[in-house]
Amino acid sequence: MVTIKKIAKKAGVSVGTVSKVLNYDKTVSEINKRKVIRIIKELNYRPNRIARSLSKGKTKNVGFIIPDITNPFFPELVRGASDLLISNGYYVFLCSSDNDSNKEDFYINDLVSMWIDGIIIAPSDTENRDIGIFNKIISPFVVVDREIKELNKDLIIINNKKGAYEAASYLISNGHRRIVILAGPQYTKTAQDRFMGWKKALEEKALFREEFAFWGNFSIDSGYEMMKKVFNNLGKFDAVFACNDLIALGAIQAIEEKKYKIPDDISIIGFDDIYLSRFLKSPLTTVKQPIYDMGKIAAEILLDRMSSSKDFVPKKVVIEGNLIERGSVARKT
Ligand code: RIB
Repeated sequence: MVTIKKIAKKAGVSVGTVSKVLNYDKTVSEINKRKVIRIIKELNYRPNRIARSLSKGKTKNVGFIIPDITNPFFPELVRGASDLLISNGYYVFLCSSDNDSNKEDFYINDLVSMWIDGIIIAPSDTENRDIGIFNKIISPFVVVDREIKELNKDLIIINNKKGAYEAASYLISNGHRRIVILAGPQYTKTAQDRFMGWKKALEEKALFREEFAFWGNFSIDSGYEMMKKVFNNLGKFDAVFACNDLIALGAIQAIEEKKYKIPDDISIIGFDDIYLSRFLKSPLTTVKQPIYDMGKIAAEILLDRMSSSKDFVPKKVVIEGNLIERGSVARKT
């Protein structure tokens, strides 16, 4: 049987050095790392992760739960976290809850039973959520992107209200007055805060009207359906604030089906700046979230919590979005 001891002897290094290489310890010299990896391959060594977990009481496994894997926002968020976690020797188990808190509970219970060392979660429902299960989790866990108010855990979010306020103010500064909002799901604080930011900007200019607000989901289909409702229920309007870029994509499809031109006839602004947004026929003006970096910050905090046994006060990191001007908003004369 191939052992760490045999590898060390063949490579001419200490057992500790072999162990450090297996744990991605950066203090190992490049030359020793290369020697150990060469012998591992030569002897076809497969470390026994279960045995190591039992001996160390750590599995080096982390769970990451997201609400919708089909939305490009979330894979980018996961990539920001997993790049850092993997370089620190962790495996990342990705779970997509399809915006279903029951599925989310199932994944949380399953991950905890796998003895994971930590969890990052972008919650589905933040407003009607029974948070009992969260408070039962012993392993460190970090919440990212969507805030559950009563949950006192490390949290990384964008300033949703301010980002939405800036989006609506940008449309107003370009001469638009009848500004519709296509909002995300009311069960997320994210969508509610973006509505409040849009409402604040319009109220300041006496432009707010309740009938300009349409609620749906953070999806292309929902953006399409909401935009069709706007055409059917509302008279004249001249601009749209879509509460995420997928909603904007669906809205654009409905607008172009009506033979309107963007931005000449109707201006539209989104939120997220997912990678697709810059490639549209009229590249989308949007509020950029530093998605990758938000995932990385979540991983940095989780790594710190997993490596320390000290008590800590949960952090709340609120990041500012920034407006990316492209081609989907016209100056209204
Ligand atoms: O696109 C998905 C949306 O839901 C993003 O805006 C992000 O904030 C998430 O909450």
